[in-house]
Amino acid sequence: MVKIVVEGDASGAAARAAALVADHLGAHPRPVLGLATGETMRPLYRHLVALHRAGRADFAHATTFNLDEYLGVGADHPAGFAAFMRACLFDHVNLDPARTHLPRGAAPDPCAEAARYEAQIAQAGGIGLQLLGLGQNGHIGFNEPGSDFASVSRVVTLTEATRQANARAWAPAPVPLRAITMGIATILAAQSCVMLATGAAKAPALARMTGGAIAEGCPASALRLHPDMTLILDAEAARGLAAA
Ligand code: GLP
Repeated sequence: MVKIVVEGDASGAAARAAALVADHLGAHPRPVLGLATGETMRPLYRHLVALHRAGRADFAHATTFNLDEYLGVGADHPAGFAAFMRACLFDHVNLDPARTHLPRGAAPDPCAEAARYEAQIAQAGGIGLQLLGLGQNGHIGFNEPGSDFASVSRVVTLTEATRQANARAWAPAPVPLRAITMGIATILAAQSCVMLATGAAKAPALARMTGGAIAEGCPASALRLHPDMTLILDAEAARGLAAA
């Protein structure tokens, strides 16, 4: 059962998602957040930082796990997701850096790193609230179409479409071919999931996610199996619901 919230514009949708994160932080003594990257998340994190500055989002006891990281990319790489998270959130709130986690893209043995990451999430007690964006091809994290719903954290190969969608952050360098991502089962194991999707470009993927078959061809459709899933949209993205 998916709860759907539609706001008029992208900023309103991001604010609504940020408020859910702040509520989660306030309601749990040791919150564990699953975090996402992507352009859609930037306004969400801006709102979250503003809530923190207003005294309404306390990260003092929080632990975070990001969905994914490019393979071969170390924490200091400017186009990597670790740098994205520092710039958008970590550097602006009272999160202990030692409790922020991303897959180590530059680990010498990436498969072992993926297994270690999955175990680390379990050791933290699992994810309480998982934030998600939506790929235009229906991917979540870097779980591309065809990903097994039983998949856990692992090394994946990116599709050409995903590499193109993320090319701007990398130009003029090519986007890496592979990544480490939480699996679909890892995501579905979170106590609650919140997806933020905004803009007309996401409408077709939303139509497939909400109205098509629950099947590997659209990884985001797996979220319809989650017992506590909230989908937050702006009006443009929500046009995909009508098409579903
Ligand atoms: C990347 C991330 C996804 C994210 C997607 C959408 O591929 N791995 O987690 O959902 O981008 O990004 P954007 O918000 O930029 O459209």
